[in-house]
Amino acid sequence: MYPLQRNRRLRSSASIRALVQEHKLSSNDFIAPIFVESGQGKQTEIASMPGYFRYSLDQLPDEITTLWSLGIKGVLVFVKEEDHLKDNKGTAALNPKGLMQNAIKTIKNTVPEMVVFTDVALDPYSSYGHDGIVEKNQILNDPTVEVLAHMAASHIEAGADGVAPSDMMDGRVLKIRECFESNGWTNALIMSYSAKYASSFYGPFRDALDSAPGFGDKKTYQMDSANKQEALTETLRDLEEGADIIMVKPGLPYLDIVHYLAQHIQAPIAVYQVSGEYAMLKAAAQQGWLDYDAVMLEQLLAFKRAGAALIATYHAKEACRLINH
Ligand code: PBG
Repeated sequence: MYPLQRNRRLRSSASIRALVQEHKLSSNDFIAPIFVESGQGKQTEIASMPGYFRYSLDQLPDEITTLWSLGIKGVLVFVKEEDHLKDNKGTAALNPKGLMQNAIKTIKNTVPEMVVFTDVALDPYSSYGHDGIVEKNQILNDPTVEVLAHMAASHIEAGADGVAPSDMMDGRVLKIRECFESNGWTNALIMSYSAKYASSFYGPFRDALDSAPGFGDKKTYQMDSANKQEALTETLRDLEEGADIIMVKPGLPYLDIVHYLAQHIQAPIAVYQVSGEYAMLKAAAQQGWLDYDAVMLEQLLAFKRAGAALIATYHAKEACRLINH
């Protein structure tokens, strides 16, 4: 009770503040999304994501070396497939010499210790821009899951440490886990997008990969933003099916979900601070309306405070440059 207790005592110098600080950001917290495109000598800035690039394979080693030197230990790989290779079944996703498979090899050859997660969903390969196979304007669940398991297998065969299914089909974690077990890949990781919402924050990402849905939206598979209880249901099912890490996506608008899951499950929780979140902060900073570095670190810290163990973020490199000294 005041004046016996004064809360400001613990804030009275930088040193005492540091000593009682409850959460801290470190380079071990981050997973850096990597966008890959075909061609040679390409570093293409994404229009709606200023300062973020797609790399052709020959440009990847430099970027991976930089990330590793900053202490970043995990990447999440996405590819922009060429239009003429897209079809309804994501055939190009299974090509052992495909862009993703080659990207995995390139990254692993550059820094073998880097933990490589790959995106598993059909949208970048789909002529419809949907995460699953389309029939009569419906997204088919079970046939899609079969393809996703093959896709996941081809990523592990190429050397990935784990897969990150982002498609939100039912039962895909189980099918992928069974496939890994039957191949004896007992260490292959599954980081499942368990609570992935049908969000309008993904716009810039769909620009980056040219993967916007050609018709309709993704609401028959991604979650309704109005729902919280369902996030726990989805997460518990994915853990039962063999997921190692679960993910909440997007990030900041869904911090309540991160916190809620952290109170109810034991597995590591990853949060994905998505492209629209990155774009908003960049835009505000470009206008001179916000202090970019300070707001970025404040947001990243909020993820840890909410209970996330891992943060997939387009700020990974920038954040490490700030917190490493
Ligand atoms: C693909 C996928 C998306 C994102 C990650 N994986 C887009 C979508 O579901 O439409 C979004 C990432 C971001 O916005 O940063 N299934």
